[in-house]
Amino acid sequence: MRFTHVAAVASLGGLLFGYDTGVISGALLFIKQDFSLTPTMQGITTGIVLAGATLGAAFGGTLADRFGRKHVIIAVAILFSLGALLSALASALWVLILARAIVGLAIGVASMLTPLYLAEMAPADNRGAVVSLNQFCITFGILASYVVDYGLAEVHDGWRWMLGVGLIPGVVLGLGMLLLPESPRWLLGRGRTAEAEAALHSLRGTGDVSAELAELQQDLRAENAEAPAWSMLWRRGARKPLIIGVGLAVFQQITGINTVIYYAPTIFQQAGLGSASAAILASAGIGVVNVVMTVLAIRLMDHAGRRKLLLIGLAVMSVTLLILAGAFAGGQSRVLGFVTAGALAAYVGGFAIGLGPIFWLLISEIFPFAVRGRGMSVATVANWGSNLAVTVVFLDLIRLLGSAGTFLLFAVLTVAGLAFAWALVPETKGRTLEQIEADLAGGLAPAAS
Ligand code: BGC
Repeated sequence: MRFTHVAAVASLGGLLFGYDTGVISGALLFIKQDFSLTPTMQGITTGIVLAGATLGAAFGGTLADRFGRKHVIIAVAILFSLGALLSALASALWVLILARAIVGLAIGVASMLTPLYLAEMAPADNRGAVVSLNQFCITFGILASYVVDYGLAEVHDGWRWMLGVGLIPGVVLGLGMLLLPESPRWLLGRGRTAEAEAALHSLRGTGDVSAELAELQQDLRAENAEAPAWSMLWRRGARKPLIIGVGLAVFQQITGINTVIYYAPTIFQQAGLGSASAAILASAGIGVVNVVMTVLAIRLMDHAGRRKLLLIGLAVMSVTLLILAGAFAGGQSRVLGFVTAGALAAYVGGFAIGLGPIFWLLISEIFPFAVRGRGMSVATVANWGSNLAVTVVFLDLIRLLGSAGTFLLFAVLTVAGLAFAWALVPETKGRTLEQIEADLAGGLAPAAS
């Protein structure tokens, strides 16, 4: 089993995350006709996935710590497949909502467990790229969902196919995971040393894994004295990672990314970009920028470092949000429509090079092993909870503050995110997870960027 196989299979979790969150924007147009949905019911059909994800993320860490990463990912794959099948066949609205809740649960667990598993399997020197493969798959999944929605729009009962297509990656993920090894770190933590060694051997493909094994063992011995408990997250060594993880989780959402991902066509139309098809095409363009800039981030991550990319990305987002606010304040015109499209693309680019991949990467790196599952859970719950909150209040915000005011608010929040990252986020490039743990326990000041 080569490590590349692990990365290829496990990152399907990210693909499903992206596909299943993106697909509903197009599918909803048809679902609302078939089931005669009121606006409230439309909100529930969309929001139930985010609520399910918040719940899934809450339990994912404990389950992964108890049953192992591999088994929980297999269970997630079953949930994804079941949810896709049930959505495609749903004959009543409550079945569809149930199916979407199941998919939401799966997304929530997958969103924390995929990066966690990848981080624990990857060698230190390319861990950044490997874990960020997950974010690439999220963005690719979102783009794929736009394309599938567009392609199936004219097909009879197309929405059933749109939601049902998720069955394919779900089944591949489940079957693929059966062939992959369990995380060596988790096995060692359970005292299954021989299995851990065998897993490391098959992952690294070289004869000698003794140095890596010894480092893992030493790290575990230091912590293994007690069973993990939630209260341990507030101890020295875990507290700072918790503040960084939850802070970045919230900033990743309250700076507005999903208002763009979920409502891009509407925003473009408001800005005066004319026809619906022009707006949809512009949105697909946003999806492409998201993917391309994520690829660039992956290439740079292990060289330029996480901190520098994060700060640059946040700075770009702040400036482009200000431009957007200005463009909306200027009213509707063709020129402003183009300014809006350009600024939105640059804003998504800024997110994709920084906060998008780096939030998920950092939360997989910074928590001490003993509470890694739980710590990632808390950060992921904060992420989905904030996503849900922003999605629910966004349309009201627009009504209250107008588009210009709303984007100005996002700009202010992004500047706050920049200050937060500047003050607290450490550089983790090229360090082993064990070294990062030691750095943060010692109250490491952020490395100069
Ligand atoms: C975020 C998602 C977002 C996606 C966009 C992810 O990192 O967690 O909420 O939809 O990036 O690319």
